[in-house]
Amino acid sequence: MQRRHLITAATGIILTQQNGLWRSARAEPLGPWRAAHASTATDPRLRAAAWAVLAPNPHNRQPWLMRLDGADTVTLFCDLDRRLPETDPFDRQIVIGLGAFVELFRLASLELGLEADITPFPEGEPQPRLDGRPVARLVLRQGGRPDPLFAAAPARRSAKQPYDATRPVDDSAVAGLRTALLAPTTFGAETRDITRIRDIAWRAWVVEAEDRAAWMETVRLMRFGSAAVAAQPDGVSLWGPQMDGMIAAGQLTPAAMEPGGPGWQIGFAQYRATFEGTNAFVWQATPGNSRAEQLAAGRDWLRLNLAATGLGLAVQPVSQALQEFPAMAQPYREVQALLGQGGTVQMLGRLGWPTRQAPPTPRWPAESRIVPQ
Ligand SMILES: Cc1cc2nc3c(=O)[nH]c(=O)nc-3n(C[C@H](O)[C@H](O)[C@H](O)COP(=O)(O)O)c2cc1C
Repeated sequence: MQRRHLITAATGIILTQQNGLWRSARAEPLGPWRAAHASTATDPRLRAAAWAVLAPNPHNRQPWLMRLDGADTVTLFCDLDRRLPETDPFDRQIVIGLGAFVELFRLASLELGLEADITPFPEGEPQPRLDGRPVARLVLRQGGRPDPLFAAAPARRSAKQPYDATRPVDDSAVAGLRTALLAPTTFGAETRDITRIRDIAWRAWVVEAEDRAAWMETVRLMRFGSAAVAAQPDGVSLWGPQMDGMIAAGQLTPAAMEPGGPGWQIGFAQYRATFEGTNAFVWQATPGNSRAEQLAAGRDWLRLNLAATGLGLAVQPVSQALQEFPAMAQPYREVQALLGQGGTVQMLGRLGWPTRQAPPTPRWPAESRIVPQ
């Protein structure tokens, strides 16, 4: 039986061809969260891919493209149109998102009794930006043992809300996170004296918000309302009954989100409250800044995010200070000097006890991210 899927980006309509017949259906933005559980695909690569598309990734761009090679191999590429050139000029964060995908693919494979052997950048490391060469080769073989971290995959979120500021993060929780990480990333956490880190992270947030090119990159990726999210289940989704109402009333528009606009001002106030309500930060650093290390950092961020979820904690990356565009140079220098230990800080995040469960974010179905051989 041959099955092919096509998605039209403008409408979000999925066309499925099975035995020569085409069917159409509307992409359901949260459908992939159910599909991961429900997959009955006989090819284990498709079962693992159904989970992997749920990985955290910058601005939810979902930059992954998979090519199924032979009977056991997935060759992973970056969709070069899904990068963030203003805020991520060297594609470092995009590679981290692809690393999170790789690790979630591996954890899902282990549930099926298969180990995924990972070769990062098998045709060499593209610098200073990514190109059409593969990001990783994943080869499945019998073996490996399920990893308990996987149990947290359905509930994992990048939790963007304020956390319980009255409840400190204890040392035992931090130790639990530390054990989840693989080499070669180093893990740091600060649960007491966070003033300096928070100050840099917040100033960096303001730099990005006031830099028109950087900020408008985000605004262009905003999906205004449920219909827009269904048409393009990626980017920054502004949806749900309240948002849909504001959008219908003309209160939430792309123009309102421009720097200084009313929507931008609301976001500014919300983020300030969020930073003020933070009492712990975590970070990861690598000795160098090679593509392989960036990919490894993404694998570890996924593991850290899952470990936090398993412990009842929440994390949210706050990446602005780590961005490499010129206006960010000062906070970048400061955060590297403070946390980098002579290497490169790859991820910085807020950590805390959530007061409510964050909602899942939309995804394109795994099938739509498979490219022909
Ligand atoms: C490298 C990287 C950088 C990110 N930076 C930020 C950030 O600065 N602020 C933020 O709120 N979320 C950030 N995120 C989280 C993404 O927005 C999030 O993963 C995506 O929207 C999907 O949502 P989910 O993780 O809840 O599934 C980042 C994620 C990655 C992998």
